[in-house]
Amino acid sequence: MTLTDHSQLYRPAWPPTTPEIEAELMGLLRDQTWGLYEGSCAERLRENLREQFKHDHVYPCSSGTLSVELALRGMGIGPGDEVVLAGYDFPGNFRAIEAVGATPVLIDVEQKGWALDAERLEDAFSDITRAVIASHLHGSLADMDLVVEMTHRHGGLVLEDACQVPGAVIQGRPAGAWGDVSVLSFGGSKLLSAGRGGAVMTSNPEILQRLKVYGERGNLAFPLSELQAAVLIPQFTMLARRHEVRRNRVQQLVQELQDLERYAEMMIPREQDSPAYYKWGLCLKDATRREPLVQHCQRMDVPLDTGFRGFMKRSSRRCRKVGDLTHATKRAAGTVLLHHPVLLQDAKVISKLAEELRVIFKRVFEA
Ligand SMILES: Cc1ncc(COP(=O)(O)O)c(C=O)c1O
Repeated sequence: MTLTDHSQLYRPAWPPTTPEIEAELMGLLRDQTWGLYEGSCAERLRENLREQFKHDHVYPCSSGTLSVELALRGMGIGPGDEVVLAGYDFPGNFRAIEAVGATPVLIDVEQKGWALDAERLEDAFSDITRAVIASHLHGSLADMDLVVEMTHRHGGLVLEDACQVPGAVIQGRPAGAWGDVSVLSFGGSKLLSAGRGGAVMTSNPEILQRLKVYGERGNLAFPLSELQAAVLIPQFTMLARRHEVRRNRVQQLVQELQDLERYAEMMIPREQDSPAYYKWGLCLKDATRREPLVQHCQRMDVPLDTGFRGFMKRSSRRCRKVGDLTHATKRAAGTVLLHHPVLLQDAKVISKLAEELRVIFKRVFEA
């Protein structure tokens, strides 16, 4: 591969097939246990997840999207209840709240970042607000200490969406270990990937019991297979090293792209946190340049795309909005995201990418 072959350089295959993954799969094929509904890989996966994310119970399932809904059902959320989430979040989280019959309550995101602004929780709770969804997005981590403290003070439960950030650490504790319930995705593009899949994790036996009642119908209704569990197991030992490399590469990009700060905000993580990068997010100061920028990047095989659309424009019949959602609105209009596989490339590739980005930004913003 040469430094001019962008499609492989900036978009390396993900998830990579490693000898460890091959060995796990071959083991299953050889001993003919790959068809088991509940085999040893499922148990080893649960063990790994319990250990990594510090919950007593793990419920693997078919996707991150569904794991959010199962978590809400486990919390006993239903019609007549409200659930708080950020005005800018993964779209499925809004839909999951609606799917259980509850009403979403929108609060703003932090001034610097994409996670909900925990300070706004004070004004968000009403008599029927039962839970808060805190998602860690695009390299920013929610202030979980404050989210948990405020939510519990108001008698609510915290659903921590760690789908984008396995490996991240918040104030010395793993992201995904903070929620009354925390969820993961093992989707094809995710940092821990089985092509598809997800998990709900909790240490609260009542939550586990309720979601089991929903998810088990004589058989598992939303299962994760033994084959999926097998490919995930070796990835836990790779997670910490890959996490470190991705973090270093983002630091390099931030340093080498300092002069782009007049066009885009780059979010600097809190000192006590170690973010994970499923996507590295930037927020453009002039959102009208986003479309041409993304189109230009895609022509050059630079994996930069737009962020989520946010929920600010959703009708007030569907949700309650708290305050003006100023920062969520800015993020919805201006977010661009660099997809993670390139962040495992070596420092030379990252320098080339930075140079390429600098040229594209200048061309688009100074046109
Ligand atoms: C924050 C967040 N939550 C949930 C999901 C849903 O995961 P899945 O694709 O496994 O359904 C995603 C997927 O991108 C996500 O980014």
